[in-house]
Amino acid sequence: MRYVKLGSTGLDVSPLVLGCMSYGKPHRGNHTWTLDEEESRPFIRRAVEAGVNFFDTANVYSDGTSEEIVGRALGDFARRDEIVLATKVHGRMRPGPNGGGLSRKAILTEINHSLRRLGTDYVDLYQIHRWDPHTPIEETLEALHDVVKAGKARYIGASSMYAWQFSKALHVAERHGWTRFTTMQNHYNLLYREEEREMMPLCMDEGIGVIPWSPLARGKLTRDWDESSTRSETDEFGKTLYKDEDRVIVERVAEIAAERGIPRAQVALAWLAQQPGVTAPIVGATKAHHLDDALAALDVRLTEDELKRLDEPYTPRAVAGFA
Ligand SMILES: NC(=O)c1ccc[n+]([C@@H]2O[C@H](COP(=O)([O-])OP(=O)(O)OC[C@H]3O[C@@H](n4cnc5c(N)ncnc54)[C@H](OP(=O)(O)O)[C@@H]3O)[C@@H](O)[C@H]2O)c1
Repeated sequence: MRYVKLGSTGLDVSPLVLGCMSYGKPHRGNHTWTLDEEESRPFIRRAVEAGVNFFDTANVYSDGTSEEIVGRALGDFARRDEIVLATKVHGRMRPGPNGGGLSRKAILTEINHSLRRLGTDYVDLYQIHRWDPHTPIEETLEALHDVVKAGKARYIGASSMYAWQFSKALHVAERHGWTRFTTMQNHYNLLYREEEREMMPLCMDEGIGVIPWSPLARGKLTRDWDESSTRSETDEFGKTLYKDEDRVIVERVAEIAAERGIPRAQVALAWLAQQPGVTAPIVGATKAHHLDDALAALDVRLTEDELKRLDEPYTPRAVAGFA
């Protein structure tokens, strides 16, 4: 495995992140398609053995059980000092007041719950899962800074939001001398490229590491448009993201994959890796070959002509994935 620096930090990360939203108790939370602990562990083990050192989960994934499964598996299969462990805060963990969001109280409570579930005394990257319009960003950033200063997180990051919000957060942190965001985890793939307007140029200008989520459009880019899977049929959030106008892009991926004799996933991941500013896609793997394809994609380099054929059919679309 070759490692790259995460944005402008000195941190070494694999250019591939294992997305751990796929691992969690299926009857907890709202992802009924997830793999339970015994089914999940081989994926985490295989990733570690292949040199992947970057793992992404969130407090809300399967109601905290993703963090528990990931924490135990990494404890068994990896050396903590080598691993870059990322989790997130914002989603609702309990009904009632202060059960979610980015208030000082929520952040200082949730980091402790995440650390307990992960079985570690620090995370490498603590990310805000969304922007919280009901909490001043100053309150959120100061609380995150305190989490870092308490030794509970090494770096902080953010996820899908408007570029003006992220720019404001970077500016506010700098003004107060607080820890600044190191990463942006955004929705970016061949079927959703609105991030190229503002967010990607902002991240490149500010030295932010970009780790796109759903790089395969939750499986849409890997199969014929009308084909479905257990996940695609039950993935309620995923159903809101992609539309019929995307079909032609999926067909182009299929054509290029057939010409090269490689799986479609490799073409879609190679395209993303070749986009300016991308550090590492966060892939979801639920079958053995998923991880193998993602690893093999690290060695695929698309030609100018192939990139052009993939780029051509994209049309501007409505902002999606912020909810
Ligand atoms: N920050 C956020 O708001 C946010 C949002 C979403 C995700 N995430 C993060 O991003 C990670 C990845 O998300 P994702 O699972 O949606 O990503 P993805 O990689 O776009 O989708 C994964 C799905 O694609 C299919 N797939 C993957 N590899 C394949 C291959 N080689 N060949 C054929 N099909 C393949 C599988 O679908 P089937 O199971 O249908 O076959 C798999 O479940 C999550 O685990 C999480 O860490 C973050």
